[in-house]
Amino acid sequence: MPRFVKLATLEQLPAGAAKEVEFEGRVYALYNIDGTISAIDGICPHQGGPLAEGDIVGTTVTCPWHGWQFDVRSGKTPLGPKITQPVYEVKIEDQDVLVGVP
Ligand code: FES
Repeated sequence: MPRFVKLATLEQLPAGAAKEVEFEGRVYALYNIDGTISAIDGICPHQGGPLAEGDIVGTTVTCPWHGWQFDVRSGKTPLGPKITQPVYEVKIEDQDVLVGVP
């Protein structure tokens, strides 16, 4: 069972925004795409690029360093099934964005 922890507020993450949050040594990338919040591991598995700083098209983020792409809802990448970025559950309570941390 994940532990749900407040990593942001909706005010900090308006529609179209992304935010990097560090918690207990792990980096999370949070995205608000059309009002739906997603959370993935914020470190690109290629060479550690900051995925919260990547461009978003639809639900796909592109790593700003070398262009690897990930779906922020599923963690999948067009690079193939061997690579999946961890995705974390999100709950909204009042104005708080709670993420199910491992
Ligand atoms: S570090 Fe992300 S694509 Fe290279």
